[in-house]
Parts: sequence; structure tokens; C-alpha cells
Amino acid sequence: MARTRHRSVRRIVAALAAALALGSLIVGGITLLLPSVDGSSAPTADGSSARTASTARATSPVTETPGSQRDDGPQIDQEEASAEADEFDRTRYSTTDPTSIWVVVNKKHPIRPKDFRPEMGLVRGYQVAGPVVAPLERLLADSDELGLGFKVASAFRSYDYQAGVYADTVAARGQVAADEVSARSGHSEHQTGLAVDLVTPDSPECDFEECFGETPGGRWLAENAWRYGFLVRYQSGSTAITGYRYEPWHLRYVGEPLAAELRRTGVATLEEFFGIPGGDYAEG
Ligand code: DAL
Ligand code: ZN
Repeated sequence: MARTRHRSVRRIVAALAAALALGSLIVGGITLLLPSVDGSSAPTADGSSARTASTARATSPVTETPGSQRDDGPQIDQEEASAEADEFDRTRYSTTDPTSIWVVVNKKHPIRPKDFRPEMGLVRGYQVAGPVVAPLERLLADSDELGLGFKVASAFRSYDYQAGVYADTVAARGQVAADEVSARSGHSEHQTGLAVDLVTPDSPECDFEECFGETPGGRWLAENAWRYGFLVRYQSGSTAITGYRYEPWHLRYVGEPLAAELRRTGVATLEEFFGIPGGDYAEG
């Protein structure tokens, strides 16, 4: 009788131990399946891939999972990590190297070296810097399909060619008025090959005029150029910052990520985005 009771007690103890072991296995298994506390994802080859992965996570359906499921994880840490990873890196490219798609050229920042010429390709017979070729072709093809019919009116301009453009404008308008619309040689974005001027045959009276911004083509560019990595560089109301009057026809290539970030943040000029002085010439 006593032995039977002992055996029963041993069986109960063994069952309890097995249950405990199973429990810790389950808990251990669940722990392995949960995300790490710092919200890190699998290692990626480099920083940019990691950023891409985080961005994808932020926009993937996973973030739309009902709150009850998200509450199980370390939600705050994950969101903080994601926000940090998504922060736009404003130092990724140079703003002074003329081969950089983020170079800022204005009246206070001339191109160096003075006789710089980019590596170029051709788009509809015009020379543009290499990185501009494919996006500009896409923009023109898409706008053609919409019947906008843009023509390239100006693209790369050498130091010497810009000297002639500026001299002609001074001769026609006087220096003060010329400086509002034409860059002195060495100060034009056109010398980087990253700028392009577009016109439409439908409104020749608005070629290189502010009314281009009110044409169907001008409106389309204002709304859509960023999708191709371009910026309407000289915006209305930004003359004191850029140094130039409104030029709705002058597009500047900066690449899709920066163009999208400018759009997202509502920042109108490269000077404001990078905190770089612009406005008038230092020497007057
Ligand atoms: N029209 C622009 C400012 C240029 O001359 O580069
Ligand atoms: Zn231009």
C-alpha cells in the first residue's frame, strides 16, 4: 500500500517535471521566433541595403497588421529604429563636386574647376551628363504619350558658351536684369550637364517665359518632374534664395530619392535643403 502510494507520488512528480520541461521548450521556442528587442532585421551587405530593407518594412503590409498582434512585440523600439533608418542621409553625395548629382551651383558657389565638362550622352541631339540620359528619355517619352510634346531647348553649356549667353542677355536687357535670369559663366548649372530647358510647340509665346508654368506642359512638369528625379530649380517666390527669377522650364536632375524627399518635405530649393548660401553674387 505504502509502496503503491510512493509510486503514484513518483509518477505525479515525473509528470510535473515533464510538463515543466515541455513548458520551457515551448517558451524557448516562442522566444526564438520573436523579433529581437532592438528591432534589427537580418544583416544586409551594406548600409544602403539595410536602409532599403527598413523602408520596405515601413511600407509593407506587415505594418498594417492589426494592433492586437503588434502589441505582442517591442513596438516602440521597432518604430524608433525604423524611423532612424528611414531618415534621409543628406551627406550621401557631395554638394561641391561637379560630377555629383547633388552639386549646388549658384551665384555664391561657382563650378570648380572652372573649365569642368561632365561625361555626357545625347538625348534628342542634346548633350546631358551621363546620369541624366535615361531619366530624361523616360520623362520625354511619357510626356509624349500624354501629347505634351516637349522639345529640349538647352542642355549642357560649356563655360565659354555660357559666357556668350550671358553677354547677349546683358546686351539685350542690361546687367541688372540679365543677372536675374542668366548665370555668369562658371555659375550655371547647365555647365554640369544636369540642367535642361524644355519648351512646347503649343505655346511658343511662353518659351523661356514665366507663363510656361501655366501651360499644360509647365503644370505637368511642376507636378511630375520629381518622379523622374528632376526639380523645377528656380521656383516662384524663391528668388532671394536661388538668385534667379521663376524658371518653370528649367529642370535640374538630382536623382529620384532627393527629388522625392524635396517633394515630401515641401522644401523648394537645394539651398534650403542643404543649408547652403545662395542669393546674389558675393562680389556684387
Ligand atoms: N537661366 C539659368 C539661371 C542659367 O543661366 O543657368
Ligand atoms: Zn536653364
